[in-house]
Amino acid sequence: MRMFGASQPSWARILTVALAGASTAQAVTLDVEDGDSIKIAARQVATNMMSYYTGNRPGDNPGNLPDPYYWWEAGAMFNALIDYWYYTGDDKWNDITTQGLLWQAGDTGAFMPNNQSKTEGNDDQAFWGFAAMSAAERNFPNPPSDKMGWLAMAQATFNTQAPRWDNSSCGGGLRWQIFTWNNGYSYKNTISTGGFFNLAARLAKYTGNSTYQEWAERAWDWTEDVGFMTPDYHFWDGASDLSNCTDINEIEWTYNNGVFLLGAANMWNITSDPKWKDRVERILESSEVFFSDNPKNVMFERACETVNTCMVDQRSFKGYLARWMAATTQMAPFTYDLIMPKLKASASAAAQACDGGPEGTTCGLKWTEKKWDTTTDFGQQMAALEVIQANLITKVAAPVTSDNGGTSKGDPSAGGKPPAPTPDALSYPITTGDRAGAGILTALMMITLGGSAGWLVWD
Ligand SMILES: *[C@@H]1O[C@H](CO)[C@@H](O)[C@H](O)[C@H]1NC(C)=O
Ligand SMILES: *[C@@H]1O[C@H](CO)[C@@H](O)[C@H](O)[C@H]1NC(C)=O
Ligand SMILES: *[C@@H]1O[C@H](CO)[C@@H](O)[C@H](O)[C@H]1NC(C)=O
Ligand SMILES: *[C@@H]1O[C@H](CO)[C@@H](O)[C@H](O)[C@H]1NC(C)=O
Ligand SMILES: *[C@@H]1O[C@H](CO)[C@@H](O)[C@H](O)[C@H]1NC(C)=O
Repeated sequence: MRMFGASQPSWARILTVALAGASTAQAVTLDVEDGDSIKIAARQVATNMMSYYTGNRPGDNPGNLPDPYYWWEAGAMFNALIDYWYYTGDDKWNDITTQGLLWQAGDTGAFMPNNQSKTEGNDDQAFWGFAAMSAAERNFPNPPSDKMGWLAMAQATFNTQAPRWDNSSCGGGLRWQIFTWNNGYSYKNTISTGGFFNLAARLAKYTGNSTYQEWAERAWDWTEDVGFMTPDYHFWDGASDLSNCTDINEIEWTYNNGVFLLGAANMWNITSDPKWKDRVERILESSEVFFSDNPKNVMFERACETVNTCMVDQRSFKGYLARWMAATTQMAPFTYDLIMPKLKASASAAAQACDGGPEGTTCGLKWTEKKWDTTTDFGQQMAALEVIQANLITKVAAPVTSDNGGTSKGDPSAGGKPPAPTPDALSYPITTGDRAGAGILTALMMITLGGSAGWLVWD
């Protein structure tokens, strides 16, 4: 399939597609001003994405992607599918989504399956919690009545993370890893604290419970105080708590901006406090570094994309910034004119980068190239889906809340019985073959580069 290189003239691809004889074969074309065109493109790209998923096959565990994809990325996938249904009305993957979420949520609803205890980080857990939160906000069809509700799962995730707030170093924050025996336990990072912030802010909006709001304020303030967020709202990756978070790894990822952006937009929506409006605006300003000038407004992962070092997790990150930018236009409508040109330009370019493979629906990593870059990967396929479907945001209703249309069953004390850690995992050495968390590759890169990957950020 790689032989259909990007440099081939398009007639050659069309001819090859025709010869392949697949009646559904059809390259992705997208007109971002046309809702039907967006839906068709989203369906094509999602269909290709779902060809990676094996969790619904007999003998496999629901909610897992095959190697080399990590557990958290499946949680991200279900969030993308919930949004896909909400944006398009197509319920083709709803059953798979419900099955995967219920399975991995487990009895406590907190997304802490024993099978993942060798590697599960706070950020990994948060990505599953986001999916449950989105399901509640979008009124995704509820689980059977004898099962826990989506809202309760998001609360369970929050309730297991809040007690992990750690004052013993760096003045607070969440550690990257949950379990002491895992590499990265001594690393405090922006995505873990940001995931908690995002979830807390959205729970505050949905439930009206001020406890969540207080936690969101605390998480924001700490991120600022410790210096993971700079005075001009750039987000660095994190730091080791062994040196009290003084030696910060200054690498910038799209998803850190995204996770704080939507949380801040929810806080603005709840409080109408100009402080939060300013923060939303300033994050959008700092996010400019992730959009190219030529082609204009097209998103790229600047820390790795231009030097071809994006690792498996990182290939999906742009999708989360796109997802959360779109959701931000609903919670903070004043951002609409700032955000939409970027989502339109990025989606148009992404669609052009999605003409790989025998059906012309395989997406490349680099949207800025506006053609398939001959690579294939689950995460980059998902990211393209996210940015394409995000352009339907103008056509759908805003998130529901518990007193405004929400039907999801909650439980403020869910997740209260934390699953016992698996003792035998203590003697289990981490190998490179183990599934790793959302941030592990960042940390590995840091180690490889002698403790700082800051130089990767070139301008
Ligand atoms: C954990 O792994 C075991 C063995 O493969 C499997 O039976 C179980 O369903 C898995 N649990 C989850 C939540 O996937
Ligand atoms: C951690 O510090 C915060 C504020 O600095 C405080 O509100 C909180 O109670 C502390 N938590 C613990 C467990 O000491
Ligand atoms: C660690 O950092 C925190 C917050 O920046 C500070 O309050 C604390 O005093 C520092 N601890 C040490 C031992 O330097
Ligand atoms: C608000 O949330 C907190 C934290 O989860 C919980 O302890 C409390 O019971 C909730 N209050 C209400 C009224 O639901
Ligand atoms: C909060 O979100 C709703 C739904 O999109 C919107 O109508 C309202 O204007 C927002 N509030 C603020 C303060 O922006």
